[in-house]
Amino acid sequence: MSVPELLRARRVAPSILSADFARLGAQVAAVMDAGARVIHVDVMDGHFVPPITIGPLVVSALADQVHAAGGMLDVHLMIERPERQVAEFARAGADAITVHAEATPHLHYALHAIKETDCAAGAAVNPATPPEALREVGELLDLALCMSVNPGWGGQPFIAASLGKLAALRALLPDHVAIEVDGGVDPETAGPCAEQGATLLVAGSAVFGAEDPAAAYAAIAAAAGAT
Ligand code: DX5
Ligand code: ZN
Repeated sequence: MSVPELLRARRVAPSILSADFARLGAQVAAVMDAGARVIHVDVMDGHFVPPITIGPLVVSALADQVHAAGGMLDVHLMIERPERQVAEFARAGADAITVHAEATPHLHYALHAIKETDCAAGAAVNPATPPEALREVGELLDLALCMSVNPGWGGQPFIAASLGKLAALRALLPDHVAIEVDGGVDPETAGPCAEQGATLLVAGSAVFGAEDPAAAYAAIAAAAGAT
């Protein structure tokens, strides 16, 4: 399935941020065997958000496995001036690259830089950033990511006001734009997010923090009415 096709259906995207990195390939295989096709990769630089996580090396380590299983790598850049890193992540095997509206004064340019690589282009907004921050770039977007926690850490509680923001993004942006929600998604919050227009639901700790990540993935997907 092509990336636009993968983004068209409602899906749960497991975030490897909460996975066991000593056996990352096996953890990704477990959720893909359970039906996951979008694997979410959280990149943090210690500047835009306090923690430092992973970079292109891990993207390239997973790329063959994820692509062979018919999936895609959804790379969420929580880094300053992301436009400087886009080409490197594309070379590593990213299929979608999302940059934060707050992380660059040149969002339009950054999205063009993503499009030049043939990756799907995403823009993210933090909880305090209004949906309107994405109005002028709507036509450039393949996906819009609504942070439903403050970026930087897994396992935080879902910010309830994000539901209204998902609906606002859905109303604001062209129909072809996938609406992604990230943070605090679990079997309870997934359904309401889907009802408000979320089509890509990122879940980290609720999947990989569970004893059985495959079963946890399936439960969230069922709650969201996802493929
Ligand atoms: C947080 C990351 C998320 C994180 C979500 O900054 O962008 O993708 O993995 O974790 P949970 O699902 O545990 O809230
Ligand atoms: Zn994320």
